[in-house]
Amino acid sequence: MNNSSMNNSNMNIETLLKNLTLEEKASLCSGEDFWHTKAIRRLGIPAVMMCDGPNGLRKQEGDADHLGLNVSVKAVCFPTSSAVAASFDIELSRRLGETLGRECQAENVSMLLGPGVNIKRSPLCGRNFEYYSEDPYQSSQMATAYIQGLQSQGVGACIKHFAANNQESHRQTGDSVVDERTLHEIYLASFEEAVKAGRPWGVMCSYNRINGTFAAENGELLTDILRTRWGYQGMVVTDWGAVKGRVNGILAGLDLEMPGGSGSLINDAKIVKAVQEGSLSMEELDKAVTNVLQFVEKAASQHQDGYIFDRDADYQTAKEAAAECAVLLKNEGSVLPLTRETKTAFIGGFVEKPRIQGSGSSFINSARVPNIAGLIQGNPEIAYARGFAVDAGGTEACSYAGANTQNAEDLDERLLAEAVELAKASEAAVIFAGLPGSFESEGADRTHMDLPANQNRLIAEVIKVQPNTVVVLANGSPVTMPWVDSVPAILEMYLAGDGAGEAAMELLYGEVNPSGKLAESFPLRLEDTSAYLNFPGEKGVVQYKEDIFVGYRYYDKKAMPVLFPFGHGLSYTTFSYSNLTLSADTVKDTETLTVSVTVTNTGAVTGKEVVQLYVGEQNSKVRRPVRELKGFDKIELAPGESRNVTFTLDKRSFAYYETAIHDWFVESACYEISVGSSSRDIRAAAVVQVEGTGYLPLTVSLETSIGELINYPATAAIMEQLIQRSIAQRHGSDSAEAATAAMGEGAGDLVAGAMEMPLGALLSFGVMQEEQLMGLIEMLQSAVNGSGQK
Ligand code: BGC
Repeated sequence: MNNSSMNNSNMNIETLLKNLTLEEKASLCSGEDFWHTKAIRRLGIPAVMMCDGPNGLRKQEGDADHLGLNVSVKAVCFPTSSAVAASFDIELSRRLGETLGRECQAENVSMLLGPGVNIKRSPLCGRNFEYYSEDPYQSSQMATAYIQGLQSQGVGACIKHFAANNQESHRQTGDSVVDERTLHEIYLASFEEAVKAGRPWGVMCSYNRINGTFAAENGELLTDILRTRWGYQGMVVTDWGAVKGRVNGILAGLDLEMPGGSGSLINDAKIVKAVQEGSLSMEELDKAVTNVLQFVEKAASQHQDGYIFDRDADYQTAKEAAAECAVLLKNEGSVLPLTRETKTAFIGGFVEKPRIQGSGSSFINSARVPNIAGLIQGNPEIAYARGFAVDAGGTEACSYAGANTQNAEDLDERLLAEAVELAKASEAAVIFAGLPGSFESEGADRTHMDLPANQNRLIAEVIKVQPNTVVVLANGSPVTMPWVDSVPAILEMYLAGDGAGEAAMELLYGEVNPSGKLAESFPLRLEDTSAYLNFPGEKGVVQYKEDIFVGYRYYDKKAMPVLFPFGHGLSYTTFSYSNLTLSADTVKDTETLTVSVTVTNTGAVTGKEVVQLYVGEQNSKVRRPVRELKGFDKIELAPGESRNVTFTLDKRSFAYYETAIHDWFVESACYEISVGSSSRDIRAAAVVQVEGTGYLPLTVSLETSIGELINYPATAAIMEQLIQRSIAQRHGSDSAEAATAAMGEGAGDLVAGAMEMPLGALLSFGVMQEEQLMGLIEMLQSAVNGSGQK
């Protein structure tokens, strides 16, 4: 299929809807084949192509599949999203989008299937390498820039997988059971901002069920939330093969079924029949057809000839991106950067076989992947020993201690001995370790967080003979590090794409100063993770029982130690923070608050710092995390240079999702604003008083507690009078004030003791007669209603 009629930019959708037959309309609701929409040539409707991303272009011209098995055109592999998130660099994310947009234009591809913004609920999810963060704010910020960059080139983004698709086990059939607050506050929030601000052309619904209903026929998700609340106007497409009841799908807001083929023809016929029988109105069908046609129209009108897929230039972008994403986890005694004169042992199977990406539908057929072995060739100061075979010794879960048992048999003693010998004879050792490709893939979750036993053992043996040892990691999500205390320097490269090798060399030798920060916590042990007891669920049902406490929200709430916290990352220089200033001490939630802080490079080399801003509500009445990321900015500073960094906070920065109003809500309270270099390296903090604009609705009944009514502004005065009067009655004083005074502190105790008491108890204790109490309830309710407080 080619896009020969692509330059049709004059599609008038209203006219087309009048001229299309019912069968043609139904046919437009599914693809022609694996990657194209259907053309209707008699009306000049072209077919347009979609391809996998998001960390490169996977364009299949021959046999197609959605698992990355069959070959695709030679392309450039950029760092995967977990790496890109670690850059905390919004402009980099935009630039990657723009670069891919140009590649798509050159290859006649109209929509790239990405970015993936599912939250990292557990480090075990097999597709975490394709997702950004454990934090919805950060994830949505990175995604928005990527979408904007891609679409600025006239190519659509298709944000995926909507929604609550946070594991690969049972990914096609499983049911994610998530309460309303958690769904909105954590899982949907990652999509929300990216949909509102990025305005992607496509949203891809996931395979799974959400609270019992498949995403593909979930009207609450695809219509009520996505379109009505968030104002989304683009197309909703299935994940490949995720369609369920086709007619129900249309009614729920699902537009396009992919892939096309014989299965989808049967579904097209079902749509026709439903319209003929009256169970689907032409109006409903027209909505879906319109969304598909609008996508095709945008694609056709924005396609431009003349773009060139410049693989060399894009490789440079990939390499720069890889360097920007790397996170220096540890650097004791400034082992890094190395000097060119240092006699160094490079060790590890990844030196020859770099691990640069994950497996599955995002797999890129790289045109060029320089390996480290090639880069160090001819360098007299660097010697190489393989140390371990990448694919050996690691398919089973095994702990470091367990290296002596089952997996020890897989270890290649000869490779180990050679590497230890070389390390001993050198002045420093760099071990390139990481997860083998088989550990991280679409379609399967990990069962443990460990590196293969042969690698853990090698690191432990090398460090015994070479104190200047650096471990460079290639992995898409956290691993355990049983050797963390003895190894002085650890550089997390993530899955860094084609430029991984060159970027690692530049970072190791200090040509580039590391500047990435973790977009996910590295736990000490799998058992510490908040989803541990409920991942991947049972009998196809996964309960999100950890609630909103995902990642650092959980570790901080429980004050637990972690291996490396969210936001952590070192540099070859140091930064100081000063002059934290808030624009006001008190703000209303309808206003904005400006926060500024001065950051200074206090070291000897130029470097970049990711300044992070967290907000935490004090004394909240509802469960809230200790702190949540609400702003970040990456700045570059020369030695001695200072810069003022400012952030603007708005209602959403202080709000939580309140189920009583099914909306975001700000409690009137004090909030701590903290800025720092990581979630656990807070350098300055200040408090602001925020006045929420409303109160939650209150239905007064026999069960409403006295405390609730005392604390509710519209009823506080009535309750105050009531309490005073009942004190006076009990103590036989004419005046309530006199009685209260006579009781002294006892009055306070009485009130405190009554706070939990329901109104109904006033009857039991003989404070009121039933009729009086009913009158009181009515009076309180009308005070609530009259206050206009929602
Ligand atoms: C994946 C999607 C991908 C699609 C097309 C599915 O299996 O979940 O992320 O875009 O295949 O390859």
